[in-house]
Amino acid sequence: MGRTLGALIVLLFAMKSFAGPPDASIEQRVDAVLSRMTLDEKLGQMSQSTSLATPLSDPMKEEIRRGRWGSFLNAGSPADRAEAQRIARSESRLKIPLLFGRDVVHGYRTIFPIPLGQAASWDPALIEQAARTAAREASAEGIRWTFAPMLDIARDPRWGRIAESPGEDPYIAGIVGAAMVRGFQSASLRDPSAIASCLKHFAGYGGAEAGRDYNPVWLPEGLLRDVYLPPFRVSLAAGAVSVMTAFNTLNGVPATGNPFLLRQILRGEWKFDGVVVSDYEAISNMVAHGYAANDREAASEALRAGVDMEMVSTSYHDHLKSLIASGDLPMKLVDEAVRNILRLKLRLGLFDGPVSPVAQAVVTTESRELAHRLATESAVLLKNEGHLLPLADSVRSVAVIGPLADSPIDQMGSWAMDGRPEYVNTPLAAIRQMLGSGRVFYASGLQNSRSTDTSGFAAALEVARRANVILLFLGEEEILSGEARSRAFLDLPGAQEALTSEIARSGKPVVAIIQAGRPLTFHKTEAQVGAVLWAWHPGIMGGPAIADLLFGRAIPSGKLTVTFPRTVGQVPIYYAHLNTGRPPAINELGIPVGTPAEPTGYTSKYIDVDFTPEYPFGFGLSYIDFAYSNIRLSATTLREAGVLTVSADITNRGRLPGVEVVQFYVHPVAASVAQPIRLLKGFRRVPLQPGETQTVTFTITARDLAFYNQQMQLVSEPGRYQVWIAPDSVRGIESEFTMLRQRQ
Ligand code: GLC
Repeated sequence: MGRTLGALIVLLFAMKSFAGPPDASIEQRVDAVLSRMTLDEKLGQMSQSTSLATPLSDPMKEEIRRGRWGSFLNAGSPADRAEAQRIARSESRLKIPLLFGRDVVHGYRTIFPIPLGQAASWDPALIEQAARTAAREASAEGIRWTFAPMLDIARDPRWGRIAESPGEDPYIAGIVGAAMVRGFQSASLRDPSAIASCLKHFAGYGGAEAGRDYNPVWLPEGLLRDVYLPPFRVSLAAGAVSVMTAFNTLNGVPATGNPFLLRQILRGEWKFDGVVVSDYEAISNMVAHGYAANDREAASEALRAGVDMEMVSTSYHDHLKSLIASGDLPMKLVDEAVRNILRLKLRLGLFDGPVSPVAQAVVTTESRELAHRLATESAVLLKNEGHLLPLADSVRSVAVIGPLADSPIDQMGSWAMDGRPEYVNTPLAAIRQMLGSGRVFYASGLQNSRSTDTSGFAAALEVARRANVILLFLGEEEILSGEARSRAFLDLPGAQEALTSEIARSGKPVVAIIQAGRPLTFHKTEAQVGAVLWAWHPGIMGGPAIADLLFGRAIPSGKLTVTFPRTVGQVPIYYAHLNTGRPPAINELGIPVGTPAEPTGYTSKYIDVDFTPEYPFGFGLSYIDFAYSNIRLSATTLREAGVLTVSADITNRGRLPGVEVVQFYVHPVAASVAQPIRLLKGFRRVPLQPGETQTVTFTITARDLAFYNQQMQLVSEPGRYQVWIAPDSVRGIESEFTMLRQRQ
């Protein structure tokens, strides 16, 4: 005991930091360290590496001792990270701790649904709990910084990263992002289980031209400010402490070298004092963008724009010293960046106390139950003809068919690097557990989601013949969505449609359960099945969640936060669109042969497909019929400083208890900049017993109605406003009010 205690005392003494006492102010402690740092040590803090070899090499240990790196991402084992931290805090000159970052996007060891699925739960409290669990698991293994939440508004499902986003709407994206920030960061960043959040990708990345990843983004400032920036603003207000720059150019200027984004908006308007980190080699990518002639220029542009830390590329390390020596860059820009980095490390408590012991992140009963709940609430029922679902207990046997019925890796989705297949409970396993193996007949039909080898169809047909009901598991392998996974077609990959047609010929009732990282176009498949349950990539407990929903042990409540197109030719398609001057009537389709030279129908439509989506934003069915009635307002006018309430009665007309996601939309009928036909301004998850009616009330103020006018001023304008309390973005009960001019 004596020796151990002695060793600990020596270690603590050796780790005595130069940051001064923990109770000094953060800024004082930053100054205390910064004032002692050499330029090399400063540039080290601004450099993040992804190569922390396992085990730590002697050269790497030496680099850590001399402060070559301030941070590592997605690197090393927990033991290596602990050893590297010990070296930094006890053997480096200034004892500055390392910060280990990682893409903990939708879980660490307990993998939850992909973010696009989590958003479909419309349950920020549950999403926050999931992030809290992820933070506990990641921090146990030495991670104190996650590169999440991803807040890129995505209105183009060709873009593979739509999987990581909260979807197409800024209002719910902000609420989801803020919930994740609270979950990751806990009540205090000094909590050893807290991990710093990192809002990404700043900004506009989801607007990539043609849905092709890394492609240029062209956004008018009004659209940027009304749609793409608000989720970041709301999540910063929740306490986010870092931001990651996006790979794309925004109106010709790379986001990573963009003073308008990083200095004017983020630091100037929003007063952000956290860390800005580049995306992976995004600083050196500015040469390929054609924005910097070489890495030296790229380093200069990035630092001038306000990027504090360089992820992986080494432009800062290689060129900032000479740029300062030559007078091309002032030292104060380096000091500013290092100050932001030191501040974050101090906020996280990394300078204080012993190096956290290495623990092993494990999936617990609680985390598994949480993953089960979130997967259940994230699933969206898109079709249920003749109330085929929930399957009655009288169903004696089921056929489980398809390439995604028993695919643990795919079920976890993209960005699940710390998930393990042995923790995954697949639909096949869950259904066998629920019904007993004797009642479950299984055939994959296809080897994987892209296979065109139909030799497995015969076996699939055989199990279909033996069963009362067929459960068809379709979708995308996880590798088909995520970063650099843009698709020009949105169909079910491989021979899945052919498999569906083959199975449909059995004449048995068919339920399609689809796991994917993006909206798909699957109209032909949809037409051949009785029910469609959209499960996203649901994480480790997707199996039990799907089984519970199919057999009525849970009731679907999920609703889409992204529009499903009928065909990729409609993209981009989203609910909050402008009306155009010639809005089409519903079902206005086609130009009959022989149409006279002056045809009618000069409206904004397609002549070869219905202009409406396959499934709209906010859509999701239940096993329960919820009725909306009696919309009423507290007043018919709203003054500038006033508050107006909009209420409606929601009734559960079913025989089971259930939850309805009630949505609140507003439409400014006329404005100085044309406004979308509907804008989501509120929602509520409403639990209702059979026969129960609840009044749901939303409040609206002038501030809630604000948008950026032609002069880029954030304004709310007098005039008529339509409102809806609705089950989705196309239906609902409607009323209206008038906002009065100030003097009225
Ligand atoms: C990737 C992604 C970013 C991620 C980072 C680190 O390229 O764009 O979202 O956090 O690199 O893995």
